Amino acid sequence: MTALTLSTAAAPGLRADAIVIGVAKGAQGPVVAPGAEAVDKAYDGKLAGVLETLGASGAEGELTKLPAPAGFKAPLVVAVGLGPAPDAEDEDAGYDAEALRRAAGLAARTLTGSRKAAFALPVDGPGAIGAIGEGVLLGAYSFDAYKGNAQEAANTKAKNGKAPLAEAALLGGKPRDVAHKGAVVRALAVAEELNRARDLINMPPNDLTPAIFAGIAQAAAKEHGIKVQVLDDKALAKGGYGGILGVGGGSAATPRLVKLSYKHPKADKHLAFVGKGITYDSGGISLKPAGHNETMKCDMSGAAAVFAAVVAAARLGLEVNVTGWLALAENMPSGSAVRPGDVLRMYSGKTVEVLNTDAEGRLVLADALWAASQETPDAIVDVATLTGAMMLALGSRTFGVMANDDAFRSAVHEAAEEVGEPAWPMPLPEHLRKGMESQVADLANMGERMGGGLVAGLFLREFVGDGITWAHLDIAGPAFNEGGPFGYTPKGGTGSAVRTLVRLAELTAAGDLG
Ligand code: BES
Ligand code: ZN
Ligand code: ZN
Repeated sequence: MTALTLSTAAAPGLRADAIVIGVAKGAQGPVVAPGAEAVDKAYDGKLAGVLETLGASGAEGELTKLPAPAGFKAPLVVAVGLGPAPDAEDEDAGYDAEALRRAAGLAARTLTGSRKAAFALPVDGPGAIGAIGEGVLLGAYSFDAYKGNAQEAANTKAKNGKAPLAEAALLGGKPRDVAHKGAVVRALAVAEELNRARDLINMPPNDLTPAIFAGIAQAAAKEHGIKVQVLDDKALAKGGYGGILGVGGGSAATPRLVKLSYKHPKADKHLAFVGKGITYDSGGISLKPAGHNETMKCDMSGAAAVFAAVVAAARLGLEVNVTGWLALAENMPSGSAVRPGDVLRMYSGKTVEVLNTDAEGRLVLADALWAASQETPDAIVDVATLTGAMMLALGSRTFGVMANDDAFRSAVHEAAEEVGEPAWPMPLPEHLRKGMESQVADLANMGERMGGGLVAGLFLREFVGDGITWAHLDIAGPAFNEGGPFGYTPKGGTGSAVRTLVRLAELTAAGDLG
C-alpha cells in the first residue's frame, strides 16, 4: 500500500519522481489549478499555454506529462484533468472532492513503478486531503497475487518499475493539523479495507469458498476487536436457515453465515449491514449460459463490502454499533442442488417456491435479513449484486437504492453521492408483488420479468422485521468493472458500496441519520 505523508515542502526542492498538478477546464481553455503555483511560476506563468499546446483541455480523465522546469529536483510534471473550473465569481466554490479523488487516482495509477510522487493538487481543507489520499490509495491498487510466483513477481516488478507507487506526499497538507491528520487516517482505513474487499472479489472462486471467506473474516475480526460468529452448514440446518442451505446445497463447498459485531461502549444507535456472498453464481440447475458466468466470482461483492465497512468502522472507532451479516454460499448445479419447483422453508418461517435457481441472492439474503431483524437494529442496509435488470436500468457505474422508507432512501442516496459513489433511487411498486404469488408456497422467488430489480427488492422486503427501517443497494452494475480502468477504479472488483456504508455509519454515529 502506498505510504501517505502530509508535506509543507515547496515543489521545486522536492526529491520525487514526479509532481502531480491539477488542470481545470476554463472558459478560455485550460487553467492551472491552485497548488501548482510554484510549477507555473517556473514556467514564467505560461504553464496553462504550455499545457494547451500539448493538447490538454482540463477535462476529467485527461493526463499530460511534461518535463519539470529547470531547477526542480523532480524530473517530471504530471498534469491531471479536474473537469470544469469552479466559478471564479463564487468565493465558496471549490474543487469537488470526487474530481480530486479521480484525478489523484488516475495519476497514482499512471505512476505505477515510481517510488515517490508529490501531489500538488488544490487543497482547501481536510476534505480535499481525504479525497486526494483516498484517490491515491485506491488508484494505486493492483491485484497480482496469481501472476506467476507472487514473491518472485513482486521482486521482478520492483526491479522493472512495475510496483505500485510507494510513497505519495500530499502538498498543502498540514502535518501538525488534527483535522488534516485525521483525514489521512480515515483515508487509510477506508481505502485499505476497500482494497481488501477488491482482493476478495478478484480472488478466483476455487480459492474463495464460503468457509475460506468466513475464515478471513474471523481473522480480521480478531485483529480489530470485532466479535465474530460463524454458522456452518450443520448450525444453519439446526437453526432452520432454509434459504442459505437451499442455495448452498449444490456445492461441495458448504455455506456459512457470518455475523460480525462491532460495538462502541458509548453508542446508542445500531446499524445492521447485510451482504450477498455468493462466492460463485453458476445459476445452479437454471444454469447460466456461457457469456454470463465468466465474471460471476463477483457475486460476493455485497458481502465483501459489508465486511470491509464493518472493519473500517472498527478501525475508525465510530461511536455506533454495527453488525455485519455475510450470507455466504456457492450456487452450483449437482444432484444435491435445489431444483426449480422445490419449496424452501426460510429462517423467517415463510415458504418460498424456487422457480429459478439463478435468483439465489434473494434467498440467502432473506435468511440474513431475518436474522439481522431479530436484533431490532435502528436500520438495516443490504448490499447485493442482485439483478441483471438493475444493470440494464442504471448501467455499469450506478447502483440502485430501494427502501421501505422514503426519507431513509434519500439519506442513503445522499450519503452515496457525498462519498463519490453514483447511486439512484428506485421504487418498490406494490403491483409487482402479485407476480411473486405461488400456487404452493407463501411466495415464489421470481415475478414479472419487467422491473426485475424492483421485484427482487419487493421479495427482500418480505423478510425485514416489522417496523425496521431498511434499504437495499443493488450493486450488480458497479461491483465489477469489465471495461478499462478509470479514475481510481481498476478493472475487476471495485469495492462498490464500501464508502457509502462507512459514511452511513459515520452519519449514524454523529446522530445525523434517523
Ligand atoms: N448474480 C446475478 C445477478 C447479476 C447479473 C450480477 C449480472 C452481476 C452481473 C443474480 O443472481 C441473477 O442471476 N439474477 C437473475 C434473476 C432472475 C433469474 C429472476 C437475473 O438478474 O437474471
Ligand atoms: Zn443468480
Ligand atoms: Zn447471483
